[in-house]
Formats: sequence, C-alpha cells, structure tokens
Amino acid sequence: MALRTIITAPDPRLKIKAKPVGTVDDSVRRLMDDMVETMYHAIGIGLAAPQVGVAKRVIVVDVAREGEEPRPMRIADPEILWRSAATTEANEGCLSLPEHYADVTRAAEIRLRYRDHDNEVREIAANGLLATCVQHEIDHLDGILFVDHISSLKRGMILRKLAKAKRTKALEPA
Ligand code: NI
Repeated sequence: MALRTIITAPDPRLKIKAKPVGTVDDSVRRLMDDMVETMYHAIGIGLAAPQVGVAKRVIVVDVAREGEEPRPMRIADPEILWRSAATTEANEGCLSLPEHYADVTRAAEIRLRYRDHDNEVREIAANGLLATCVQHEIDHLDGILFVDHISSLKRGMILRKLAKAKRTKALEPA
C-alpha cells in the first residue's frame, strides 16, 4: 500500500465527472487499499478517488468511532437506489477543504448498490453518519463538493481562503 497525495480545492481535478470502473480488478483493489491508507493517515472518514487525482468511481469510508474496531468499506461504482424524503443536517468537513466546515442537509437514509473489493455486487441500507458520508463521497465522483450545497456567499468565502492558503504555501521556501 502507498500513501497518495490529497488534492485540495480549488483544483479542476475536483470538478470532473469520474468514470465507472466496471470490474474491480487488481489495479482497482490497489487503488482502494491506497485510498484507505491515505484516509487513515489524514484522519478522515471518507475519501473519493478524484481527491487523489484518479477519475474513477471509487470511494472508501470508515465511520467507526475512536476506540472501535476499524471497518473500512471499499466501494466501486456506487449507485444510490433510494433516498428517504426525511433529511438530516450534519456539520461536514472534507480532506480537500482542510479546516473548513459547514452544515449540509442530505437524505437521512439511503439504499446503496456497489461493487466491493471482491467485485461482488452488494446492496446495503445506510443511515446516520454512514448515509451522510456516502452521499458526500459520491458527490465527489460527480465533481460536487460539500460547499456546493451551501450559500454562494459562504462557498465563495471558503474557496477564497483556500486559494489564498495555496498561494501562501507556494511562496514558502522548500
Ligand atoms: Ni470530501
């Protein structure tokens, strides 16, 4: 396994629509394993392939709480089959928008179909943090960031701060 570099916004690679993988083969499994390692290293609960510069429909999530056994999920070609009309609001962050958070409203419950790391098609129901996290990560596969769900005023403020942080970092001596 290897750590991959996480892309931060603003970056055009975070705005693309990722392509289905079709079959989970060794190269996709390697990508999934790298993403799990990268997510844990960054202390995140989810990561999507476009965030590491790969335009494929692959996400990994682990919503286990601190002290609990890790339960990483490796998900390819996810499809939300059903969303509840009931919604829930959560304070979301994103490894590609470091140090910024906002309340986002999403479906409280979803039914999800995907291919796992063994290329088996699975269907699960998700609610709570898992439902929120999966919807956030699937958004990444369509070039959507959590700030796209909030007011343009707040989004603009966050993206300007991130752009400025990037410029400052570029000026730092190596
Ligand atoms: Ni994210």
